[in-house]
Amino acid sequence: MDRWQGSVALVTGASAGIGKSIAIELARHGMVVVGWARRLDKLKTIEDELSTEGKTFVGRQCDVADETAVLNEFSWIEKTYGKLNVVINNAGIGAVAYLADGKTELWQKVFNVNLISVAVITREAVKFMRKFKIDDGHLIFMSSIVGHMITPLIGSGIYCATKHGVTLMAEATRQELNASGSKIRVSSVSPSFTKSEIFERSGRKITDDMPYLECKDIAEIVAWILSASPSVQISDVIIRPTGSEY
Ligand SMILES: NC(=O)c1ccc[n+]([C@@H]2O[C@H](COP(=O)([O-])OP(=O)(O)OC[C@H]3O[C@@H](n4cnc5c(N)ncnc54)[C@H](OP(=O)(O)O)[C@@H]3O)[C@@H](O)[C@H]2O)c1
Repeated sequence: MDRWQGSVALVTGASAGIGKSIAIELARHGMVVVGWARRLDKLKTIEDELSTEGKTFVGRQCDVADETAVLNEFSWIEKTYGKLNVVINNAGIGAVAYLADGKTELWQKVFNVNLISVAVITREAVKFMRKFKIDDGHLIFMSSIVGHMITPLIGSGIYCATKHGVTLMAEATRQELNASGSKIRVSSVSPSFTKSEIFERSGRKITDDMPYLECKDIAEIVAWILSASPSVQISDVIIRPTGSEY
């Protein structure tokens, strides 16, 4: 990770769970981390904790589903740092959203946060990297094991559809960039069940007898992907807890 020292990383959904762990991991590796989320108080707590270690994390309130807010925050990064080397498109929500009798508003909300915002942030990140000639930039998409298979959880079809979309969008972004001669690398990360707030926030109960990953496990994989030699592009990683069926 040495070559990323002082580089700027954007982590969306940095106030909790996997995004928080990734933000902490990257800051501890010497990156300047900008973390977006809606809960500013949680971001400020991370900022304070990391600053006592001499690490740089800056929390910025941003709802990724609000395109105007996203564009404003990209402008803020441009004015403040004039560079952006790594973007971790991580923010996401779960939902118990049935297909047979579900509500369109809920489907739209999940698609907006999990998929449309990822497309907007990717477009703006590529625009930024091209403008500032950041040829060794890296885009990381947070997909899921259910972006590769049918979810075993009834009521997760909409979430699962968005994660299949993220997997495909990552690969399509990689193809588009590589076809245009870009050296920006693209990776998709697909964790299985990871202990975070996502299940309870979406109204599901988690049981302790299930094998699960810790958020830190995913953060370490992200650091491993970033630390690969510049000539190596790790395009897709599926991460399962040892002993897990899924
Ligand atoms: N946990 C798992 O088992 C698992 C497995 C595979 C993939 N994933 C994926 O990993 C990613 C992170 O999930 P997690 O498990 O860490 O969930 P989490 O603990 O619920 O954290 C979600 C993060 O996303 C942020 N967020 C949600 N909606 C947002 C919005 N509209 N604008 C900005 N930030 C928003 C939340 O912050 P605020 O609420 O403060 O805005 C929070 O920081 C998601 O994309 C999820 O689909 C999770």
